[in-house]
Amino acid sequence: MRVAVVLVLVLVHVWSITSSNEERSGQCIESERQAPLGFKKGLVDRDNRLSSWTSSRRDCCTWEGIRCDNLTQTHHIVLLNLRRNDLHGEIGPSLIELKQLRHLDLSFNSFTIIPKFIGSLTRLRYLDLRHNPFIGAIPSHLGNLTRLHSLYLGSKGQLKADNLKWLSRLTSLRHYRISRIDLSKAIDWFQSIKAAPSLLSLTLYSCQLPQVNLLSPSNKNSSDSLTNLFVSDSSIHPTTVPWLFNVSINLVNLTLYYSNVRGPIPNSFENMRNFENIYLSGNGFEGEIPNSLGNLCTLKQLSLTGNIFNTTLHDFLEWLSGGCTKDSLEFLDLSSNQLRGSIPEMNSFPIFLRELRIGYNLLKGPLPSLSKLPYLRELDVSANSLSGLVSEVHFHNLSNLEVLDLSYNSLAIKFNSTWIPPFQLTSIRLSSCKLGPKFPSWLSSRSFTQ
Ligand SMILES: *[C@@H]1O[C@H](CO)[C@@H](O)[C@H](O)[C@H]1NC(C)=O
Ligand SMILES: *[C@@H]1O[C@H](CO)[C@@H](O)[C@H](O)[C@H]1NC(C)=O
Ligand SMILES: *[C@@H]1O[C@H](CO)[C@@H](O)[C@H](O)[C@H]1NC(C)=O
Ligand SMILES: *[C@@H]1O[C@H](CO)[C@@H](O)[C@H](O)[C@H]1NC(C)=O
Ligand SMILES: *[C@@H]1O[C@H](CO)[C@@H](O)[C@H](O)[C@H]1NC(C)=O
Ligand SMILES: *[C@@H]1O[C@H](CO)[C@@H](O)[C@H](O)[C@H]1NC(C)=O
Ligand SMILES: *[C@@H]1O[C@H](CO)[C@@H](O)[C@H](O)[C@H]1NC(C)=O
Ligand SMILES: *[C@@H]1O[C@H](CO)[C@@H](O)[C@H](O)[C@H]1NC(C)=O
Repeated sequence: MRVAVVLVLVLVHVWSITSSNEERSGQCIESERQAPLGFKKGLVDRDNRLSSWTSSRRDCCTWEGIRCDNLTQTHHIVLLNLRRNDLHGEIGPSLIELKQLRHLDLSFNSFTIIPKFIGSLTRLRYLDLRHNPFIGAIPSHLGNLTRLHSLYLGSKGQLKADNLKWLSRLTSLRHYRISRIDLSKAIDWFQSIKAAPSLLSLTLYSCQLPQVNLLSPSNKNSSDSLTNLFVSDSSIHPTTVPWLFNVSINLVNLTLYYSNVRGPIPNSFENMRNFENIYLSGNGFEGEIPNSLGNLCTLKQLSLTGNIFNTTLHDFLEWLSGGCTKDSLEFLDLSSNQLRGSIPEMNSFPIFLRELRIGYNLLKGPLPSLSKLPYLRELDVSANSLSGLVSEVHFHNLSNLEVLDLSYNSLAIKFNSTWIPPFQLTSIRLSSCKLGPKFPSWLSSRSFTQ
């Protein structure tokens, strides 16, 4: 009994010694504490954001932007997040000491050089270097980061890459985003992306994308892992455009915004079986819709807004409705084109359509009945030259309608005063419509949700 009491007292004593030790040095590993301090020496920290990084505060695990591993006994520094701290100066080599670093975020600062040694932080899973005024070339040493899942690179300066061969060595890479990088010399860019075996999502923002070099041997070794391609504000060599549309047969989302792409949509969808969303806004697409686009049985959303399609809406919908796209499409945005003719009877419309936007075209004639589109939630026909009468006849069965824009046409609105609409609107626009002689009673009362 007495032995047990003594033992408990000893244990309590030992515990109190270790806990007071912990208070002083914390969980921080002494050798790793020097690395952030050394890194800080190379920085210009005008706003003193890193004031907690000081040797008088011994537990470096509590310093601003630092996290230590709290799942194992060792408490290595595993995360360094210095995003948006207005840091200038050098990304100094002291960071190499942080051998267990898994997450490094230096984005939105003012660093100018991407150092080669970052390729030695081989435990990294997440590396974010976006939005710094980097100059020079991306070091191929990044290809040593075989555990990397996410890589975000970008510049406000003149960063370039002469080749992207190193990308294929990033066997774990899932998410890759680059912005404002000159790839015009990197003729292997497409093959390199195809060779990254785990890549799921690729974002190219404001890049120069040269001609795809089809003769490269690595073309054989290609992966179809990519599901999400987002390209915006880039300049793309015209012969490369068709290859973006079928970069991987597993593509689900394709976005190609404001990249000055001209001509018809390429007919490269032949083998695509998983497409859900295609957004091609703000380019110079024109001409006919290719057969293979009408045959995407999984396509839900198609946006072609802000292009120069100038056929009749009737022809356009016939092309689009040639195959099973018609049965899956829920969202169609053709606004801000030069589509002509009248709005056809809805017989050939995609039947499960929820949103239809055909505003800002050159459409004429009356609005046909919308009753064959019973799922319609949003309709925008604004800024055309539509004329004639709009009445309750147009809206039978539209119990899901929430948003209606008939503005800037020459439409006359006349509803039977006893009519009770089957829908509740959240928004209606009727600018320059002729209303009356009486204001439609349903508009003034219960058909709105607040
Ligand atoms: C470990 O660290 C993570 C990330 O900082 C934190 O969310 C979590 O609560 C910590 N767990 C413990 C047991 O302290
Ligand atoms: C890292 O990559 C560079 C260039 O790709 C290479 O020269 C170097 O040997 C690699 N380092 C290691 C440790 O693999
Ligand atoms: C093709 O990929 C495999 C595995 O990813 C790799 O071992 C091989 O070297 C690659 N071949 C070429 C020609 O790139
Ligand atoms: C496709 O895009 C949608 C909407 O942005 C997103 O929710 C979804 O996760 C994406 N799918 C894939 C496979 O990337
Ligand atoms: C992808 O599109 C290009 C250009 O249209 C075509 O030559 C190639 O055969 C297509 N690849 C697949 C797998 O469909
Ligand atoms: C449609 O656009 C094409 C190419 O820009 C042009 O040649 C043609 O004349 C236009 N057609 C109409 C009816 O405006
Ligand atoms: C309303 O929908 C039903 C089937 O849901 C259909 O039979 C009927 O013709 C539709 N009404 C109009 C006016 O189109
Ligand atoms: C208005 O609707 C009522 C009831 O449905 C109907 O009896 C009447 O004839 C309609 N009036 C006009 C002008 O269509």
